[in-house]
This record gives sequence, structure tokens and C-alpha cells, in this order.
Amino acid sequence: MKVTGKTAVYGIFGYPVKHSLSPLMQNAAFRELGIDAVYVPFEVPPESLKEAVDGVRALGIKGLNVTVPHKERIVEFLDYLSDDAEILSAVNTVKNENGRLTGYNTDAEGFLRSLLEEGVDLEGKRALMFGAGGAARAVGYALLKGGVKFLNIVNRNFPRAKAVGELLGKRGNVLVYPLKESTVDILLKDIDLIVNTTSVGMKPEDPVLFDYSKIPEGITVIDIIYNPPETPLLKSARKKGCKTVNGLGMLVHQGAVAFEIWTGEKAPVETMRAVLKRELYGGNP
Ligand code: ATR
Repeated sequence: MKVTGKTAVYGIFGYPVKHSLSPLMQNAAFRELGIDAVYVPFEVPPESLKEAVDGVRALGIKGLNVTVPHKERIVEFLDYLSDDAEILSAVNTVKNENGRLTGYNTDAEGFLRSLLEEGVDLEGKRALMFGAGGAARAVGYALLKGGVKFLNIVNRNFPRAKAVGELLGKRGNVLVYPLKESTVDILLKDIDLIVNTTSVGMKPEDPVLFDYSKIPEGITVIDIIYNPPETPLLKSARKKGCKTVNGLGMLVHQGAVAFEIWTGEKAPVETMRAVLKRELYGGNP
């Protein structure tokens, strides 16, 4: 890669940021399209966020991704917000136009594009979503946008579920429940779609969210976890003849939407996916 005086700079703000896969994915995309740009990680401590955003303006950094723990707090330092960022009160992408910074949220759109690519139609579906964190907000919002008939949200911490329910309840039929076996048993009888947005399933020692032998046969089960590529939830679902989707597509597409916002060019999605697969799974699944 040749970096010259004309090379544009993009980056990601996170804390920590060491494990981010975005630099790999975005640099591959710039390279593929022959765009003279580099994308670098910036480890920004929470107390330095305002100065870091001022630095984006001062240094002419063209665009950013934003990750944990800055997605919500960065909002107050930006000039404009897209509709999705405003609704979710969270930003994962920033575009700098001559010092005017606009915040976007590409998580919901990325999730929807990944389902489109997998042939999952949300229209009229009955959905059960686990989790009530930042990811759940974006995914729940996307499910409603995609036309689900209703969205049941289950979370271990019930007050958090209620807060997400309040936000999303303005956009469709949303009901919230605590994570309890007897409750999940009943909910499982009346659904077409299960979505996991919790971190449960990332580590081998993780508990299960519910008894996976009770997954209804032939429904669609989505896990936004991408590593491992097949969580215990997805494995059980596959054995039940369910259509399964993991989180790699969402990761790729949230990045692709960001790339398109910055460059105005169609993102090289397959190149982006290929570098991630190689990095995460050694090119296996
Ligand atoms: P993110 O921004 O990725 O959504 P988060 O805000 O930390 O991350 O949310 C993590 C989600 O995983 C939450 O819904 C959390 O449940 P609580 O709100 O009850 O903490 C869920 N989660 C994590 N570990 C869990 C576990 N062992 N059992 C059930 N849910 C769990």
C-alpha cells in the first residue's frame, strides 16, 4: 500500500479497539476499489472522546466507525444525525464533510441486508428476540422495520428489557418478558423466528439461554454472534431442520453500508467477507 500526501484517513474509535476487525475489512475494501485511503484504529479513552472528535475536525479525518463504549456518548459531539442514529440514540459511523460531522447507525441496515442475502423474509413473522443491550436495540428496530407481526423481547435483566420495549414499542407490537424457563416455553409455541443478540454462546463455558431441544422445527434462527460461526443455539436449530444465520453477514454489511456512506461507491462485499473469514476461521466455514 502506498501512502502519500493525498491519502485520505479513516478510522475507528473504541476502548479497547485492539480486537476490531474493521481495519482489516475497510482497508481491503479501499484496496479492492483502488481508493487512495487508509483506515486506522484509535484507542480513545472515554474521558478523551470530545477531544478526539475535535481532532477528527482538526485533522480532516474523513470518516469513522464508532464502537464500545462510545456509540451513545459521541452523539452530543456531532453536528447532525441520520434518522436511524437519532431513533437508536447511537452512532457507529461518522462522515466528515468539511468539518461538519454527521452520525449514522448502520447496524440495523446491515442486519436487514444480511437477512436479505440469506433469503429471510420478515414480513408478517412472529419474532422472539433474546437480549436488551445496544445490539438488541438495532436488531429489534430492524425486525420491526422489516415488517414482523410482533416482537417478543426476553432479557435476564427485566428493567433493561422494559427500556428497549419502550423505545421499540413506538414502532410496532412489542412485548417484554424476563428470562424464565416457563415464560420461554410458552413463547416458543407461537413464533417463526428466534434472534439472539446476547453474548451467550461466544464462550464454550457459557450457559444456554433456554432448553434448545424446545426450538420449534423448521423455523428461522438467527444469532448475531459470528465467532464461533455456529453457536450451540445455531447448532441445535440446524439439527431441528431450522434455517440458521450467524452474525458474519451483519458484521460485513454494517461495514459495507458505512463504506458506501463515506465513498458513495458500492462496497465490495465479497472481498470484505473473505478477509474476515480468513482472519476469523482460517478460511474454513
Ligand atoms: P451489546 O451492546 O453487544 O448488546 P450489552 O449491552 O453488554 O452488549 O448486552 C449484552 C446482552 O447479553 C444483554 O442483554 C445481557 O443481559 P442482561 O441485560 O441481563 O445483562 C445479555 N447477557 C450476557 N450474559 C448473559 C447470560 N449469562 N445470560 C443471559 N443473558 C446474558
